[in-house]
Amino acid sequence: MTKDPLPSLFDLTPLNETYRAEPHVLLRDLRERCPVYHDPVSGLFVLTRYADVRGIVSDLTIWRDPKLAEEGATMMKLQISADQTDVPRSEATSILFLDSPDHERIRVPLMKAFYTRIAKFRPAFEVIVDEALARINPSEPFDLMSVFCVPIPIDAIATILGVDHERLVEFRRWSEGVIQGLNPYRNEAESAEMETCQEALNAYFTEAIILRREEPGDDLISDMTKLQAEGAKISDTELRINLGALLVGGNLTTTDLIGNAVRLLLINPSELAKLLATPSLVNSVVEETLRFEPPVDITTRVASKLTKIGGCPVKPTQGVCMSLRAANRDPEVFDNPDRFEIGLKRSPHVAFGGGAHICIGAPLARLEAQVAISKLFEKFPHLKLVNADAPEWRGLPFFRGLERLDVQA
Ligand code: HEM
Repeated sequence: MTKDPLPSLFDLTPLNETYRAEPHVLLRDLRERCPVYHDPVSGLFVLTRYADVRGIVSDLTIWRDPKLAEEGATMMKLQISADQTDVPRSEATSILFLDSPDHERIRVPLMKAFYTRIAKFRPAFEVIVDEALARINPSEPFDLMSVFCVPIPIDAIATILGVDHERLVEFRRWSEGVIQGLNPYRNEAESAEMETCQEALNAYFTEAIILRREEPGDDLISDMTKLQAEGAKISDTELRINLGALLVGGNLTTTDLIGNAVRLLLINPSELAKLLATPSLVNSVVEETLRFEPPVDITTRVASKLTKIGGCPVKPTQGVCMSLRAANRDPEVFDNPDRFEIGLKRSPHVAFGGGAHICIGAPLARLEAQVAISKLFEKFPHLKLVNADAPEWRGLPFFRGLERLDVQA
């Protein structure tokens, strides 16, 4: 067993080259040596065991809002922006960081309307994927991220929300800027870009809500303004913030899910062969990718009362950070956890978190990834990696996805 000091949460981000290259060297060591670790740098408990992570994400008595954490939970405090101090929480942050009753009041009607849209979205999404594939020139190598994995999710969520397709490039920029809000280690330039993008997004949705109320369309913004008119207790500010959360939450994550899945299939030819022989295994490809290489690293909670985690006492208001990535490779739960293998019956992964906050976009992400991967390999069954040995991982803390994925059809 190594005698190196235990890594801080900061070390468990791609800002640390060792983690960026292979996160599980550090995560495995941490899980083996100190699975419930109080990291003095972030001020949070870091959990790496599946049982502890699943137990805490599912605990409905525990809090989500970083504002409720003790001052010593410094990493969580960095996620609250200065301008969020004097307004009600539901008008300052999305359901991501809200607790009930506000969380339930907003999430329940939003989820109902969103899931009704997703249920009938497949045909329109198939067209989005077909069009992206038709734009690819297969006679030379291409970067699959920029031509396929990046544009598809933004097109999908824009269609569901009913926002202008001529502005997809701007939405993408805003979405990448705003997601820096979840990066406590952002630098000044990233903070400035975040604020510019947040303002642009706010202005866009404020106007879109007014326009749809006057002239409803066949889209989620109109569904939500209709629900408001029928008595749903959601203010325009709350609606704007949460529509923004759908736009931002569904972009990078789904892009990375598709990119990570394609890379894993290409570096594991036996698994790709299984998929090509039995296309219905695509569901298993998506779930195994979510387990093996999840796009989101962590989620957090705040103890609302004295809580024992793996035998360690956690006091009220102490912050807890769960490594979803580490939990998904816990050998106590998954046989051969470091092998990417499809078609197995495995315990459910925790890539979407759990409990009251379980990712609201999970059904959409699954649909998108399944259709995108199926259609990609139907069209290009002989797809191959170019530069297979050097994956270019992006540097955004707490997310894992590829900068580029160079392939040859
Ligand atoms: C592969 C893709 C995705 C991954 C890995 C992912 C992951 C996550 C995780 C880990 C959480 C926190 C859950 C918790 O704390 O228990 C979350 C919450 C959330 N996600 Fe996703 N997500 C994905 C796609 C999406 C999509 C497509 C959307 C929207 C279109 C979305 C919107 C949200 C929102 C709004 C929340 C906050 C939910 C709440 O707190 O009630 N996500 N997601």
